Amino acid sequence: MSEIITVLSGKGGTGKTLFAVNMGVHLALKGNKVLILDTDFAARGVDIALGLESRVIYDMVDVLKGDCRIKQALVESRKYSGLFILEPPAVKKGSGISLIELSVLIDRVKNGFDYIIIDTPAGMSSVTEGLAAKSDKILLITTQDPVSVRSGQSLLAALKDRGIEDIELLINKVKLKLADKGYLMDVEDIAESFGTEVCGVIPYDEAMHVAYNNGCAVVDIQDSRGADHLNRVMQRFLLTE
Ligand SMILES: Nc1ncnc2c1ncn2[C@@H]1O[C@H](COP(=O)(O)OP(=O)(O)O)[C@@H](O)[C@H]1O
Ligand SMILES: [Mg+2]
Repeated sequence: MSEIITVLSGKGGTGKTLFAVNMGVHLALKGNKVLILDTDFAARGVDIALGLESRVIYDMVDVLKGDCRIKQALVESRKYSGLFILEPPAVKKGSGISLIELSVLIDRVKNGFDYIIIDTPAGMSSVTEGLAAKSDKILLITTQDPVSVRSGQSLLAALKDRGIEDIELLINKVKLKLADKGYLMDVEDIAESFGTEVCGVIPYDEAMHVAYNNGCAVVDIQDSRGADHLNRVMQRFLLTE
């Protein structure tokens, strides 16, 4: 039986996919069998972040329609053995897939993996809420951007209304100097305003940005302060109950 981890944010561009992909690599390197389930139908990106885009032939809609077997749609990384991805169509068709359909997919694969990491689109939807309800661990990511903070807080409130309480917060792409000058929100103030467990803070890091946009995991980059923080956050997040 696998442990399900869901990564969420109120606004796009906070680093959900970057985190999901690097968490997948981190767990696979420890010998786990990991699936990253990309549920962002509008902006699929897990394949690109792992340099696997040319290897995705079948997607989850093909599986649900019965056009391929699930094994054909699960793409395993050659570089990180044990790390698999399952993608939505590259170009959005129709309205995506329902929570029931995603749940069927998860039920079909969950016995074969130690971890399933669910990467979600930004914002609240009944699908994201339902996936969060099925999860063992939830990470909510915000940046210092006020829109990201406000939409993240509203997502957190909506989850709490549903009785989903155990949510860890990550503040990402942090620019401390700009906060010190008063141009961006202070990290401590953001943490306090969410009123939830803070699992870490990751600075804005150019090397990490370049790696992500070139299909590279953060483990493969040297001398990156961001990567050190990300590693610590991943370890802390996995330890929390
Ligand atoms: N800590 C960071 N430092 C620098 N760039 C980052 C960091 N986290 C994310 N990014 C960049 O932000 C952009 C959005 O990240 P992404 O993971 O795609 O966001 P989301 O999935 O939440 O929309 C990407 O270009 C990524 O490289
Ligand atoms: Mg994303």
